[in-house]
Amino acid sequence: MRSLYDLFKFIFYIIFLINSILCYDPPQRVFHNSVIINDRLLIIAGVKNFTQSPELFYLDLLNSFDTSNVLWNLIHNGDLPIYTYGSTAIASLDNSTIFLIGGYIKSRITNDFDFSKQVYTFDYNTSIWTTPLITGDNVPIRQQMTGVIKNSGIIYLFGGFNTTNTTTKTGITYNEMNILDTSSFTWKNLSIIKNLPLPSSDYSASLLPNGIIVYVGGQERQEPNDTLTKMKSIKLFDTNKDEWSYMEATGDDVDPRWIFASVLTPDGRIIIFGGCTYDFTGVSPNLAVLDTTKNPYEWSIPSNSKVNLPPSIYGHTANLYYNYMIVTFGFNIDNKTYNSQVYLFDIRNNTWVTRFDPSTPISSPTSTSSPTPTSSPTPSRKPLLIGLGIGIDTTKNPYEWSIPSNSKVNLPPSIYGHTANLYYNYMIVTFGFNIDNKTYNSQVYLFDIRNNTWVTRFDPSTPISSPTSTSSPTPTSSPTPSRKPLLIGLGIGIGVVVLICIGIFIFYKRDKILRIDGTTSDTSHNDILRIAGTSGEVD
Ligand SMILES: *[C@@H]1O[C@H](CO)[C@@H](O)[C@H](O)[C@H]1NC(C)=O
Ligand SMILES: *[C@@H]1O[C@H](CO)[C@@H](O)[C@H](O)[C@H]1NC(C)=O
Ligand SMILES: *[C@@H]1O[C@H](CO)[C@@H](O)[C@H](O)[C@H]1NC(C)=O
Repeated sequence: MRSLYDLFKFIFYIIFLINSILCYDPPQRVFHNSVIINDRLLIIAGVKNFTQSPELFYLDLLNSFDTSNVLWNLIHNGDLPIYTYGSTAIASLDNSTIFLIGGYIKSRITNDFDFSKQVYTFDYNTSIWTTPLITGDNVPIRQQMTGVIKNSGIIYLFGGFNTTNTTTKTGITYNEMNILDTSSFTWKNLSIIKNLPLPSSDYSASLLPNGIIVYVGGQERQEPNDTLTKMKSIKLFDTNKDEWSYMEATGDDVDPRWIFASVLTPDGRIIIFGGCTYDFTGVSPNLAVLDTTKNPYEWSIPSNSKVNLPPSIYGHTANLYYNYMIVTFGFNIDNKTYNSQVYLFDIRNNTWVTRFDPSTPISSPTSTSSPTPTSSPTPSRKPLLIGLGIGIDTTKNPYEWSIPSNSKVNLPPSIYGHTANLYYNYMIVTFGFNIDNKTYNSQVYLFDIRNNTWVTRFDPSTPISSPTSTSSPTPTSSPTPSRKPLLIGLGIGIGVVVLICIGIFIFYKRDKILRIDGTTSDTSHNDILRIAGTSGEVD
């Protein structure tokens, strides 16, 4: 019986493994980091209720998704070598490396704090974590700071907290500016004296194209106590001159806050979202915009942003990807739970949306009406084979052939030995042999059956969303249809599981027979039970 139990345990692990490949369900977290590299939003580190997990996972930003159905992907072998939270993570300019700096670092083996190394790098192409040798000034480890990288490859790290007691989490806040050169791997303490700000942490940092880093909010050391920085009291660091200056912003009032998130838009707006008071209660407004093109900078609270406003959260992150600010994880103050909902803010019109559509920023307005593929296959050539461009109407009696004129535009080359499948609005043509240039075809061709056109964009959302869904998204109704691909995936997954399990079962049984009986001949039902019993004693 024990052996059967082991087998079931094994099957369970296999199912678990396959499910984790199909869609990874990440643990919730606060005080994590997120970076976008090559159209993937990677989530790094963080903590949930004193427990941590080392997985590195991402959201694929090349696919559209609905916030009610977000599919995370696990990076296999990408596990962090340590646990950390309250750290900062920055992608190198060429997207080859993630620099994970500082934080409350713990050994994964002992689960004790370990501040012996403060910089960990992840090689994005090989999925290898290392602790690089960094020379230069002695820069001690810090927590609760945010780094920014300049186009010179230098990371600027201002202040931060240095925990001296890991039990009470008390310590000292600093105001130095340290820089890490990501090409030479050297530290430098800029040792600025003039205009030095108060020791600060948990601010937001945004590097403007003119080389000025804008530090907003967070906490400051003001003897005898720490206080939250006024949101209109802006610290500015000029990376061209290594000089500090200050600005008193104008505009709407914004509650001071810490552990919030921000993004910088290409048109010079710093959008801040979430955060909390010193006592971890909510702040108002949840979302505010600092316009850095005004002089002085000006705060505003877009009225659109109050519609479908997410709950108050802290310890989350925000990243900008084309038109969207993407908010992930954090702690929901309103209902005292860890947040696993992704929130999307469309920066074009300052609205919270539920649909992420990567095609919007990529395709030009005219590209849908007249797509221009690079190959430009000769449109005059008549298709040779049924299934490419010719339609037979079986509603006519007798059936009637026609060649839709639309189908001649962007016509694929002549191919044979391919296949075609219909999926909602698309006929999907795969592989085959290209007669025109005598090569095996690896191009997928898409034929939109609604208007008989060859298209280059496959959008699974089209058949699912109703025409009105973009103007007024209805999150409650959408999960049902959008779960379909998941169910298909699950179906395949279960099929694979069953096959693997049958294989494993046979193999496992043989293995046991070999080890225990020294024979593989008998495969009777009796034997399974007998061996099961034997194995139980062996284990
Ligand atoms: C790095 O990735 C970002 C995000 O996808 C992208 O915008 C940028 O162009 C990439 N940079 C390089 C050098 O590939
Ligand atoms: C954190 O863990 C404790 C102990 O397991 C539990 O009582 C508490 O509800 C958890 N808190 C949250 C917010 O999950
Ligand atoms: C910062 O904290 C670490 C670990 O607690 C400690 O070893 C180090 O000396 C501290 N550095 C400073 C400058 O306080």
